[in-house]
Amino acid sequence: MQPLVIFTIGTLPMVLVALISENQKFIEAVNQLREANGTMNGFLPFEVPFQVSIQVKLGRRYRHLCGGSIIHEQVILTAAHCFYQKHPTKHLRVIAGVQNLSENTAQRYDVAQVIQHKAFAPLQGYDIALVSLTLPLPIDGVHFDTVDYRSGGNVEDSLETYLIGWGRTKGMLEIVAFTTVQSNDCRLLGFTYVTSTDLCAYSATGRGACDGDSGGALLTANLTKQVGLLSYGKSFCKRNHIYVYTNMFRLIDWIDGQIENLVGTQNFQA
Ligand SMILES: *[C@@H]1O[C@H](CO)[C@@H](O)[C@H](O)[C@H]1NC(C)=O
Ligand SMILES: *[C@@H]1O[C@H](CO)[C@@H](O)[C@H](O)[C@H]1NC(C)=O
Ligand SMILES: *[C@@H]1O[C@H](CO)[C@@H](O)[C@H](O)[C@H]1NC(C)=O
Repeated sequence: MQPLVIFTIGTLPMVLVALISENQKFIEAVNQLREANGTMNGFLPFEVPFQVSIQVKLGRRYRHLCGGSIIHEQVILTAAHCFYQKHPTKHLRVIAGVQNLSENTAQRYDVAQVIQHKAFAPLQGYDIALVSLTLPLPIDGVHFDTVDYRSGGNVEDSLETYLIGWGRTKGMLEIVAFTTVQSNDCRLLGFTYVTSTDLCAYSATGRGACDGDSGGALLTANLTKQVGLLSYGKSFCKRNHIYVYTNMFRLIDWIDGQIENLVGTQNFQA
């Protein structure tokens, strides 16, 4: 069991936050897979308790819109561009606690509010949004957990990272290996719009990033820390391509500030 712990960082009371006590079962499963496979690419043989699917009702059916990650029992971290096309909040929902999106046992959660970064504009950085839920998720450290977005550090320089997402699969969660790239090199390689809130990463061995992976987490090699979230690319699902992520390291204060503002608002229980 991983209860959320209340602690204080500086003057900001954090009635929230992340993976304080570590999720041993998850960590062991990741370590075993990494040892067996070297680099990880393909369907994940275990649950990722902080991964969610943000869905939108189009006509009568809900469709997967974007990936997201649980950073607080009532807050999902995702990309602002997921809401570029405005959908009424009541047509949005979040599916959490599942690996197979087609399973009808999936738990559904209603959305209270979508908070996009005010500076967001396509290709101008700040591609980040928070989705608050009307009810808290049942964080149990097994099926539901938070991910640490605060302590991954600056990973610009050739680090092994992993994207998790449902991509274009038939609902099964996949993992894709990426190596981070210095922003200057990334610009020289043709990504001229890369801003200070972006992080470039290269998929040499995996399938690249697909449209359905948008908003999903880029994680450190042991999958315990979120260092980015998928923003854009020049093509979908292509190996040997660079993709651009939002750099968590640059936006920790924004996230913390937004969560602090949410605490105490209607519906927010923490
Ligand atoms: C791990 O390796 C096995 C055997 O080669 C392969 O079938 C599987 O898809 C790999 N999984 C991941 C997530 O890398
Ligand atoms: C996912 O769930 C659906 C519906 O229960 C099932 O038909 C499908 O086989 C599952 N996929 C996998 C890979 O287990
Ligand atoms: C996971 O990796 C990070 C460095 O990327 C390290 O700080 C952390 O201690 C590791 N966690 C575990 C449980 O191995």
